[in-house]
Amino acid sequence: MAHFGRSDASIRMEGKRPLSGRIRIQGSKNAALPILAACMLIPGKCVLRGCPDITDIECMCNLLKSTGASVSTVCTDTDTEAIGIDTRSVREHRLPERYVSAMRSSVIMMGAMLGRLGEVCVNYPGGCVIGERPIDLHLYGLEKLGAQIWIEGNHIHAYADELRGAVVDFPFPSVGATQNVILAAVTAQGTTVIKNAAKEPEIIELCRFLNTAGARIDYSGTLLKTGRIVIQGVELSRLQGIVYDVISDRIVAGTYLFAALAAGGKVTLENVPIGQLDSICDTIKGMGASVTVDAGRNEMAIDACDRDRIVNVPYIETDVYPDFPTDLQSPLLVAACMAGGTLTVREKIFSSRFRIVEELRRMGADIEVTGDTAVVTGGRELEGRNVIARELRGGAALVVAGLCASGITTVADSGYIRRGYQDIVGDFAALGARISYVG
Ligand code: UD1
Repeated sequence: MAHFGRSDASIRMEGKRPLSGRIRIQGSKNAALPILAACMLIPGKCVLRGCPDITDIECMCNLLKSTGASVSTVCTDTDTEAIGIDTRSVREHRLPERYVSAMRSSVIMMGAMLGRLGEVCVNYPGGCVIGERPIDLHLYGLEKLGAQIWIEGNHIHAYADELRGAVVDFPFPSVGATQNVILAAVTAQGTTVIKNAAKEPEIIELCRFLNTAGARIDYSGTLLKTGRIVIQGVELSRLQGIVYDVISDRIVAGTYLFAALAAGGKVTLENVPIGQLDSICDTIKGMGASVTVDAGRNEMAIDACDRDRIVNVPYIETDVYPDFPTDLQSPLLVAACMAGGTLTVREKIFSSRFRIVEELRRMGADIEVTGDTAVVTGGRELEGRNVIARELRGGAALVVAGLCASGITTVADSGYIRRGYQDIVGDFAALGARISYVG
């Protein structure tokens, strides 16, 4: 395991130093989590290479183990570490509350466990406090496939003698609910059609993984245009263990691009999912930095050295893929504080995703929030303060703010950041930042 510091440790920075150098982007959390859940459907051994070394992945592995699966670290022929998952001895359908409460993604185990065991019992899932996060769309989709669902206290029970293909028409393209239905439909009788499915790259990765293991999911070419996924159910015994490489993390790459934009400097990122970062690159270029891509090497370089050129674009709104991702809204706010002019940001996906504004204001930022909209007036100096991470992406953005601020910043409760960033301290240190864990 990488060195993370304790989960309640603080991250301390001495800011106002431009970033410079190159770093490698970790594997994608949001791709790896549903793929790990999908292993539950495969009565054999899967090996996942490139899973990030973060606490959310640890939590998903613990969930798998709690069902009876064996999960281990394996050494692959390329000498890289990988996670081996063997679900042949799975038997337990109740998921332990301590893991489910720790991570909202645990809800996608429901579809996989219905497909494998025909029943599942979970408590209402937890996760970052970024607004109301109901699971009505997940339950709607599973019920359409024939699951009986009932609630007892804080627990959700789902049971299906046999799942049957159906048309699932989502009123909103929820990422997790789309994944849950895909997982349940893979071994259902007949054909499932998901309409208004989520189009995020992590959906495509889940389909690609499952198809490689023997599923029959048609998404190719059509998903981005039509939002439609068609799944022909197959026998469970048709699914076979595979070795699979997890794609790299577009949100971590985006965080580091905004860090370079905010702090200034010249940074090259290796192992970047280039085609997935179009809306982010457009924003960064619109703000005056140059971005160059070496597609052959999967590298992306940002040059934000000329600070006079860094100015805000007038307006950004977060939306579903391929538009600007909600997960990068907080790092964008920090970059906007450091740029000239004014940026208006509308958050369309989550209701409480401006929680870092209070902390940024304490550092000297000029940000006004009204409902789902924040107006950032940039060009103000940020000053180092003791601030507190309250959720994953906001926590990472506070670290970016600390890199830009004069004096010392400490970000407490760095455990939130460890949920998604393998080594944020090591990465920024490699780019020349004065940053370390304390406490
Ligand atoms: C996933 C990502 C998360 C990202 C989000 C949006 C993972 C592990 N997490 O989260 O990083 O920020 O997509 O891109 O991949 N909703 C409902 N009812 C439901 C489900 C969702 O109302 O049953 C609402 C949510 O409250 C939210 C919106 O839909 O307002 C988007 O949620 P969803 O797309 O489901 O996000 P997640 O899968 O939770």
